[in-house]
Amino acid sequence: MRVLFLGDVVAHAGRSALRAFVPDLIRSENLTFVIANGENAVNGKGIDEKGAQDFFEAGVDLITSGNHIWDKKEVADFFAKDRRLIRPANYPHCEEFPTPGEGFAVLEKGKSKLAVLNLMGRVHMDALDCPFAVGNDLITRFLAEDIRCIFVDFHAEASSEKQAFAHYVAGRVSAVVGTHTHVQTADERLLQDDTGAKTAYITDAGMTGPYDSVIGMVKEKSIKRFLTKTPQRYEPADKQIGLHGVIVEIDDETGDAISIRRVQKFLN
Ligand SMILES: [Fe+2]
Ligand SMILES: [Fe+2]
Repeated sequence: MRVLFLGDVVAHAGRSALRAFVPDLIRSENLTFVIANGENAVNGKGIDEKGAQDFFEAGVDLITSGNHIWDKKEVADFFAKDRRLIRPANYPHCEEFPTPGEGFAVLEKGKSKLAVLNLMGRVHMDALDCPFAVGNDLITRFLAEDIRCIFVDFHAEASSEKQAFAHYVAGRVSAVVGTHTHVQTADERLLQDDTGAKTAYITDAGMTGPYDSVIGMVKEKSIKRFLTKTPQRYEPADKQIGLHGVIVEIDDETGDAISIRRVQKFLN
């Protein structure tokens, strides 16, 4: 199977990049599945049903997320009715106040079956449950159910945490792709375990959104925030619209990664 994964889709600009590029990429790259991180999809903060619809219409099969997932309060209702949006799996498990949504989904198309797992790091981020332990439990479960193709969106700030997790699960999953920093790294590679099983890895898939910005935000607002150390209202930028992500090829039978390639496209 061939999977396109897109880094954090930011605001209207990011959603317009989906419409402009994803349908063509599905055809030209013979894609089996398209996954996109949508935590910043609406005005740069969170996602709602209408925003998610733009993803699905462009051909996205599943939306992953991260720390901004709760920014729109309507998201809880959307979680209740649509499994095509997931949130990090390592939110605390609480019987009394269950966290809305699920931390993974299983996609199926023809003979291809892919488990997608969303996790969030804890370095310079909220102290959720341990992503290594939660990830390990879920990966063990998928493998016990004979789901060999497993794709992980590890949403985290620290490259060390993303690399450590990727090495921890190398050979057991098909891909570990980082999100959250909105900057694509150039370290895509195949990791290997002792048996030779391969896992595709990149520290960050990058941003799908406005590049004439500070990680998607209007530059002047961001500069003012740093100069004055006062909070500034987030305002998404809208120029130099780009789509950044990776295409991962996976062996359907073994779950081994065959290749990982970065994708960068710009509208204007
Ligand atoms: Fe983000
Ligand atoms: Fe984030």
